Amino acid sequence: MIDVEILEQEALEAIQSADTLNAIEAVRIDIMGKNGKLTAAMKNLANLSVEEKKAEGQKLNTFRDRFNTQLQVKKNQLEAIELEAQLKKEFIDVTLPVSAQAAGRIHPLTKVIEEATDIFAQMGFSVAEGPDIETDHYNFSILNILENHPARQMHDTFYLKQRGADDVPLLLRTHTSPVQVRTMLSQELPIRIIAPGKTYRCDSDQTHTPMFHQIEGLYVDRAENVHMGHLKSCIETFCRAFFEMSELPIRFRPSFFPFTEPSAEVDIGCSRSKEGVHIGGGSDWLEILGCGMVHPNVLRNCGIDPEEYQGFAFGMGIERLAMLKYNIPDLRTFFEGHLQWIKHYGFLPFSVNCNANEDA
Ligand code: DAH
Repeated sequence: MIDVEILEQEALEAIQSADTLNAIEAVRIDIMGKNGKLTAAMKNLANLSVEEKKAEGQKLNTFRDRFNTQLQVKKNQLEAIELEAQLKKEFIDVTLPVSAQAAGRIHPLTKVIEEATDIFAQMGFSVAEGPDIETDHYNFSILNILENHPARQMHDTFYLKQRGADDVPLLLRTHTSPVQVRTMLSQELPIRIIAPGKTYRCDSDQTHTPMFHQIEGLYVDRAENVHMGHLKSCIETFCRAFFEMSELPIRFRPSFFPFTEPSAEVDIGCSRSKEGVHIGGGSDWLEILGCGMVHPNVLRNCGIDPEEYQGFAFGMGIERLAMLKYNIPDLRTFFEGHLQWIKHYGFLPFSVNCNANEDA
């Protein structure tokens, strides 16, 4: 017969000195396992007399209960210590700079928005934003695009089933121009903003996607401070800086937009071949944006007196800028989310004006 007191003393000492979860498990097996000391003592009870069995059985049960309690207490302590150590080991300092080997890429559209924002910021423009879900009023009426105006059909608008406050029709904005009027209504003059953002039209083929991006620009100031010459030099400065060509040929062509008067479209010089469009010299022209002097009706609709104030505005498609600058042939690939595509056309986080491929 074993001495239960000695066994208990030894077992409790073993628990105390166990310093890992593996060690505590070894102690449990040594006592309670299939061939453990307590298991053996329990089996041995069968060989004892009824009296002895009762006394010895009681001692063993008490020992087992104390042993289990102590074992659990120690196990909890060790688990807490090991968890703490693991958390320390796996700690990530999110404030550290991104590693140069970072696998992520900046999407070409994000890159173009950043570049354009930088160029316009140097000319004193700040960034303004507006909602993607607009009312008919901000997307059309206030911009002098009146009911039954053909421009409403041209914009292939996505109307929402749901209506807004006061039962007004809601739609996905078809251009970033509503940000112009929202800014004129909410900011003090003079105003000098650009508004990059998503726009939507119900159109899908090789050269159209239902969602695309535009950058809107607006400058409104006292009439003596802003005229069409400023618009021209602002657009020329932007195009030459963006395409990094100081001699880039640029021309302004008369055009029509309901929200500007006079209006113009801007073309840049290019040449076309089987490989695609090449920006710069050549004998061809490529349209890249629309612009003009803000229509007096639009100023008036925003509570600005067109006798005293004047402004210019412009709008351009971001995908087109990206396709031209970075030789991306197919518009639809921008939104397909292919890893190979983004590895090829994307940019490393801190690269300056060169794409990931060139960096590699
Ligand atoms: N909103 C026009 C469009 O989506 C682009 C545009 C043209 C914006 C002339 C302007 C502008 O601000 O003055 O086609």
